[in-house]
Amino acid sequence: MSAIRKDILDLVPNGIGKVAMEALGEPDVIALWFGESDLVTPPFIREAAKRALDEGKTFYNYARGLHELRRAICGYHRRIVGADIDVDRISMPGAAVLSVVTALQCLVETGDNVVIVSPIWPSIFQAAEVVGAELRFCRLDEDWADGRWRLDLDKLFSLCDGRTNAIFVNSPGNPTGWIASRSEQQAILDFSRRRGIAFISDEVYGTMVYDGRLHAPSLLQIADKDDEIFVINSFSKPWAMTGWRIGWMVHPPSLSEPMKVICVANNTGPAVFAQYGALAALTPEGDAFRAVMLERCRTGREVVQEFLATQNRIRWIKPDGAFYGFLHIEGLTDSLGFALGLVREGRVGVAPGSAFGPEAANDSYVRICFAQDPARLRLGLERLTAATARR
Ligand SMILES: Cc1ncc(COP(=O)(O)O)c(C=O)c1O
Repeated sequence: MSAIRKDILDLVPNGIGKVAMEALGEPDVIALWFGESDLVTPPFIREAAKRALDEGKTFYNYARGLHELRRAICGYHRRIVGADIDVDRISMPGAAVLSVVTALQCLVETGDNVVIVSPIWPSIFQAAEVVGAELRFCRLDEDWADGRWRLDLDKLFSLCDGRTNAIFVNSPGNPTGWIASRSEQQAILDFSRRRGIAFISDEVYGTMVYDGRLHAPSLLQIADKDDEIFVINSFSKPWAMTGWRIGWMVHPPSLSEPMKVICVANNTGPAVFAQYGALAALTPEGDAFRAVMLERCRTGREVVQEFLATQNRIRWIKPDGAFYGFLHIEGLTDSLGFALGLVREGRVGVAPGSAFGPEAANDSYVRICFAQDPARLRLGLERLTAATARR
């Protein structure tokens, strides 16, 4: 007999990890599997963290994040997102994924379920599994004729019942690049208000959009102060800070006091010197770097688009946001087996589509991150095509 929860013992690493562990760090492998660009965090952010260390900022600090950093995040919300959010609604448990866990800890009791718009980054639903939620997926539908992903709101709402405690939407989405429209967000917000369901909006790719907008539609722009919403954000992607493990969340004001306890319990906040790096990211220099990153993504997206124009077995729905290509390979039904073979023999690392949700349709896809050096990205795509031709 074991005291450990059965559902915990049943957890297994997702397919992205399985493929990456085959060849992590091997220099001849073109690694497109993780959600990060090949750019190193810019010097002004690194310098700010180093300065903090040199000044002896190595002690415990506020568990919800430094006051000045949380105030700077308020400024970012006003400037970039177009929302005025009280500083007391901002908490920084650690990286965005810990904000996801924290939000779910606040919501899920045994027997509850979470309805998740998919395909989606697997750590989201694995986090829900860790806290004991039942998972329900509402898969976006491919509209190949129109070249876009579509959310069926009726399907989403029909998955909710009396034990649904949260609807989880990631927009712009990983891996699809789909962006929820203002009216879709409003409809989900109205529904969740009526039904007493929390709305978790993961907006870590909020500024990574390709139509010139400063930010994708944000739940923060339409929600009221007391709505039971959680909006997740991160320094990881726009500022090339994936290894820093720092992000933030906006939560209802009723959680301001409890968050002091939860954040202590989970990690007592992100590393203090990392927070000084994050503070530098929110300056005009940080805005300039975000623009550089977005340009790299835009170029990568065009490289993939041009490449796919020459292919007849690989296609995509061109992403409106984020920095992933979710590539559909004709005839593919075992994306994990394909990705494992690809990394071993083809020396290119991709994430298998099956990792992004349980539906069989995902198995015809692989995901790449295109925020890469264009020449290396092209080479990776050529290797992918060669492997596809051998199948
Ligand atoms: C949708 C989504 N949310 C959250 C995260 C995690 O961000 P962080 O590095 O801050 O934990 C990722 C990372 O890939 C992601 O794709």
